[in-house]
Amino acid sequence: ALRGVVALDGPSGTGKTTVARKLAAKLGAGYLDTGAMYRVVTLAVLDAGVDPLDADAVAALARAVRCEVATDPATPGARLDGTDVGETIRTPRVDAAVSAVSAVPEVRELLVQRQRTLIEEVAREAGGVVVDGRDIGTVVAPDAPLKVFLTASAEVRAARRGAQDTAAGRETDQAAVLASVERRDRLDSSRVSSPLRPAEDAVEFDTSDLSIEQVLVALTELASTRG
Ligand code: C5P
Repeated sequence: ALRGVVALDGPSGTGKTTVARKLAAKLGAGYLDTGAMYRVVTLAVLDAGVDPLDADAVAALARAVRCEVATDPATPGARLDGTDVGETIRTPRVDAAVSAVSAVPEVRELLVQRQRTLIEEVAREAGGVVVDGRDIGTVVAPDAPLKVFLTASAEVRAARRGAQDTAAGRETDQAAVLASVERRDRLDSSRVSSPLRPAEDAVEFDTSDLSIEQVLVALTELASTRG
């Protein structure tokens, strides 16, 4: 039932999102950025003045707002109640609150359900879909024929995140970026509800010393045999 689904999991700064989009484009498949969905809900929480730690209020808001993400790897984008929030969801304010929001079980149930529906739709329409997240291989699409888990050292990941921020014109403080990356991974890995961890049958890649291009070559090869 899950033909053509590539589950791509791992912490931030592993090159995961760049690799996922390029892989999808190369395979002519769709792309689903599940992190963007959690980010849109987090932005809604912050904009509404709701405390990200107030699980009941966060769950109620998640049910009330409309969050949409684009599924074409060439044109990434996200909308909150129809408004373009593609840039705003990448700000440090959202980075700081997204782990708390995504740890709320009701938020996860709601988004996982939507992700499964989207995966089926996009896989059917595009012939395949690359899904970028933390729990895709373990929870969202445990039947995916190809599961990949990307890792990299915290320093390398912080450097990549910092470079992304600089490229996007945001001011960066490398020590703050490292602290933020480490904090988010700690929270994501230790949460009770579907923590960040590799699926047992995932192929693990340490990307610390690999270029995006090298990772892409390896994954394209794997996808052609297992996708
Ligand atoms: O991938 P990205 O860094 O945009 O994800 C932002 C946050 O969303 C993660 O730090 C994590 O807290 C949450 N997330 C999640 N499950 C996913 C994808 C993202 O909990 N499948």
